[in-house]
Amino acid sequence: MKVSRRDFAKIIGAGALGATTLTGAEAKESNESNLEKDSAIQTKKRTFPNGFLWGSATASYQVEGAFNEDGRTPSIWDTFSKMPGKTVNGATGDVSTDHYHRYQGDVQLMKALGVKTYRFSISWSRVFPDGTGKPNPKGLDFYNKLLDELLKNGIQPFATLYHWDLPQILQDKNGGWESRDTSEAFANYAGYVAEKLSDKINHFFTINEFGAFVELGYRIGIHAPGLKLPAGRFNQTRHHAVLGHGLAVQAIRAKAKKGTKIGLAENMAICCPVIETAEHIKAAEEATRQLNAQYMTVIQEGKYTDLYLANTGKDAPKYTDADLKTISSPLDFVGINIYTPTYIRADGSKQGFAVVPHPASYPHMASQWLTVGPEALYWGPRNVNKLWGEDEIYITENGCSSSDIPAADGKVYDTDRVMYLRNYLSHLQRATEDGVPIKGYFLWSLMDNFEWADGYTNRFGLHYVDYPTQKRTPKLSADFYKEVIKENRVV
Ligand code: NOJ
Repeated sequence: MKVSRRDFAKIIGAGALGATTLTGAEAKESNESNLEKDSAIQTKKRTFPNGFLWGSATASYQVEGAFNEDGRTPSIWDTFSKMPGKTVNGATGDVSTDHYHRYQGDVQLMKALGVKTYRFSISWSRVFPDGTGKPNPKGLDFYNKLLDELLKNGIQPFATLYHWDLPQILQDKNGGWESRDTSEAFANYAGYVAEKLSDKINHFFTINEFGAFVELGYRIGIHAPGLKLPAGRFNQTRHHAVLGHGLAVQAIRAKAKKGTKIGLAENMAICCPVIETAEHIKAAEEATRQLNAQYMTVIQEGKYTDLYLANTGKDAPKYTDADLKTISSPLDFVGINIYTPTYIRADGSKQGFAVVPHPASYPHMASQWLTVGPEALYWGPRNVNKLWGEDEIYITENGCSSSDIPAADGKVYDTDRVMYLRNYLSHLQRATEDGVPIKGYFLWSLMDNFEWADGYTNRFGLHYVDYPTQKRTPKLSADFYKEVIKENRVV
């Protein structure tokens, strides 16, 4: 413990300091300067690099509503959410937060927060109502208006091309991502949007969360399109998703304005060492490669790991070397969506690691799956940089659900969300301090919205949305985030 001169004097008795005994005024001054020094040290330790991009995020089907306006056709989520029993209380995105009509007000919410950037997604079936072929001239109007509004307010747009709302027609025609035709249709749509919008958007994400939409939609069946494919067909679907990503990277590169940056936003397994010692850290690095073999690793390394091919055996995907080359087309940046940790220990086995399951008492937020592990924001980007040399990394999603009940004064005092964010951001700050090249952070989400199969029951927003009136009210976490942004540090 560091003891100030004044404390020392108190402890041993002022007289013992002899000639150096402090007068009352001197002691006060010395104490103040110590306090100043302490808080300066603290501030320095918790500061983010200059120019760090603070943002927030949403996705088209989760916020837009206007499901049948201006030529938009149904996506697989329109169909799935309308099937009985698929979402909590039969919720759909027909209206959601009505962002399609309220985007101007929503940009003002961003401005009030002070975010420098906004991540949103484009609805494929607004732009190509038939999935491919003839574009809908009205399709891009909304995005052009939104982009103008953002730019006018000094907010830099980051756009995701696929956040799960596949045109239903492609599911009907091709079996969706089960078919290579969908990978090609996706590249065509991505190239078209990049050509039309890259004068206003500098950063494009191809696909959001392979690890969620493929697994939950085509293997487990709890997300659209609600399938439980057998292993062989399922692994092929995984392959077509990463192939679609690679083809889209090439199409965007060919069609976009020079200097446009391309990346993806993936919810990889975030492997954290159980204890931060050399052997567990090494095990967590290898686990990062193996547990993400079907998506991030093949994208980064241009091949499926031997372990993945051995594990899938006769059900392994069929592919060519040319596919692998396409899938691993060079990227300009990488986005990682981070919510939960996967704990890894070195176990002396041939593969070198073991996953340590969460005990039953492990804490989680309002969503059962959302286990709390702030160090994920350290190890996620650190391992992506260490393993694959990525030097422009964004945390493209982080945030949490909370029970969010307005108090008598109408405000939501979501201290649990503030606690969650403060702890996660502390580890993000630690990573930037250690030199991990993280350039920005997008908090999920700007406002409460349609949380997929959970409908409107799990709220993730910084703003509380009263759905019947569509009124948005900043929660305590919005006040917290605003302060973080203003100070560029953990507060
Ligand atoms: C990841 C998804 O990208 C987003 O759509 C979802 O709402 C959040 N996680 C929270 O579950």
